[in-house]
Amino acid sequence: METLIVSFSQTGNTRKVGRAMAEAMAEAGFVVRTISFKKVTAEDFLAADLIGVGAPCFESQAPTPVRDFLVGLPDLKGRRAFVFATAGGAPGRVLWDMARPLKQRGAEVLGGFLCRGTCYHPIPCLVGRFPERPDETDLEKARRFAASVAEMVQGDDPRSVPAENRLETLNPGLGLYDIAGLALKDPLIRFLMPKPRVDSDACDQCGWCVHECPTASIILHSTPEIGGQCIRCYRCLTGCPKNAFSVNWWFSNPVVWSLYNQTFEHWFGDIRKGERVY
Ligand SMILES: Cc1cc2nc3c(=O)[nH]c(=O)nc-3n(C[C@H](O)[C@H](O)[C@H](O)COP(=O)(O)O)c2cc1C
Repeated sequence: METLIVSFSQTGNTRKVGRAMAEAMAEAGFVVRTISFKKVTAEDFLAADLIGVGAPCFESQAPTPVRDFLVGLPDLKGRRAFVFATAGGAPGRVLWDMARPLKQRGAEVLGGFLCRGTCYHPIPCLVGRFPERPDETDLEKARRFAASVAEMVQGDDPRSVPAENRLETLNPGLGLYDIAGLALKDPLIRFLMPKPRVDSDACDQCGWCVHECPTASIILHSTPEIGGQCIRCYRCLTGCPKNAFSVNWWFSNPVVWSLYNQTFEHWFGDIRKGERVY
């Protein structure tokens, strides 16, 4: 069984989960290839019998580059697939965003896995939530999920669906964060969230941000210039080796906090009572 596990991962959380799944599938005797979204091609999808697609949740949905890529895939009839994501307390429609285009292209989607990931978003109201996640327990659940997918593929036994399989998130929901994920389109995010500024004295033009930007929106002139396709993931800011980017959060911090506060995420998201957030 040729298996492809593709992860979009900026700070490593989703990649860790994908690797844990790959281990479990290799143990089950599958030939597994893990690859990053930056490198994967449509041909890689066509060459696989089983496809796993993983991404972090951004604004209660799958990141724009992931959605755009999946929508552009060719027919995947005859292939089986599963999706996985890491998120803070408001995953919204992230799994559905990946499952839907796969289903539309004819793949049979067997399930979805979701777990916590430390939030490295630099906005003060979110930064540092869920430290050290995914942890070993999360990764063990990811392995269990992958092993059950392997069993389903080998034996077609529907009873092997484990508790880790988030079947309910494979359908579009109508909760607050599902609606937020629908409403928060890129132009609105660009309006609400500030564009990073560059300190030309600190920038040594290493080109790291140009290479890392998931929408290829950064051009290096004398200093980096951020273009109109920026999705405000702040990867340039959090990863710049020279700390050359900065943002003023005075407007967006209260706006983001009004939607993504712990009380709302407990009521409408998936923060459980008594769960450690910081
Ligand atoms: C730009 C951005 C937006 C995010 N939005 C959400 C969100 O709406 N809901 C949520 O639960 N987590 C959100 N998070 C947290 C990430 O989903 C989480 O940190 C994830 O594990 C990152 O995965 P990675 O390390 O694979 O990139 C956001 C993180 C970033 C950087």
